[in-house]
Amino acid sequence: MQALLNTAIQAARKAGDIAQINFERINLSDIKTKAYNEFVTYVDEEAEKAIVDLIHSRYPDHDILAEEQGLKEEGSDFLWIIDPIDGTTNYIHSFPVYCVSIALKIKGKLQVGVIYDPSRQELFTAIRGNGSVLDGRKIRVSKQKTLQNSLLGTGFPYRGDTKCLDLYLEIFSDLAKIVGAIRRPGSAALDLAYVASGRYDGFWEFNLKYWDIAAGILLVEEAGGLVKNIIPGKNLSENGNILCGNPKIFDQMSDIISKYDDRLVKLF
Ligand code: IPD
Ligand code: CA
Ligand code: CA
Repeated sequence: MQALLNTAIQAARKAGDIAQINFERINLSDIKTKAYNEFVTYVDEEAEKAIVDLIHSRYPDHDILAEEQGLKEEGSDFLWIIDPIDGTTNYIHSFPVYCVSIALKIKGKLQVGVIYDPSRQELFTAIRGNGSVLDGRKIRVSKQKTLQNSLLGTGFPYRGDTKCLDLYLEIFSDLAKIVGAIRRPGSAALDLAYVASGRYDGFWEFNLKYWDIAAGILLVEEAGGLVKNIIPGKNLSENGNILCGNPKIFDQMSDIISKYDDRLVKLF
């Protein structure tokens, strides 16, 4: 497993270097619109290619699910899940909060996760059963016991679905009245790494893609945190409505958000 982790780390650093070299160099003509409020630049594409090339140079038969290339399936037991730049909107605005996220699933189970933040040169890694690590130090979720004084992370819905935004804002309002503070930095993968390292006590966001969260899920779980799909009965790999946190904060956030279960089930 260590060899697979080393490959993920080398690939993440390569992609991170490509992103960092091009940081603050994005022109308007470099930005392509994939969908409403979803953008891509040559940097996402080059960074992703560097990751996939490195993985395939060592493991030519492994399957790939990468944000820009989609799913390349050969029926392997190994599936790499890649977000070359998580936080593209930040990146194109020269807002230095973004990361590279790479996860590996073996026979359908997350086994390796790497999140690399090129701006701070922080490397978060996890191997199932071995805990989560930040730059060589073991990390754990926070010890915060109550929502009062807690610091939560979130992501705002931005795809133009007003029903989702309205419901999100009701939940946001319920939580904002109780917690210490809420942040929305703009990179879901990094948000999950921050839950794993205890910087946040909890995090929630709707409508994420699996490449946004795969590595982060393993990091949070291996750091002693809990992760679930907010929508009852749904799987996080198909429907990225995520709630996670240290076990105490996770339970308290779940209690508040579960009041909306019926409406959430109808919406997602
Ligand atoms: C986005 C970031 C953002 C989240 C979005 C994601 P991208 O990923 O994770 O924080 O709110 O939903 O799409 O598009 O920059 O890779
Ligand atoms: Ca992403
Ligand atoms: Ca991305």
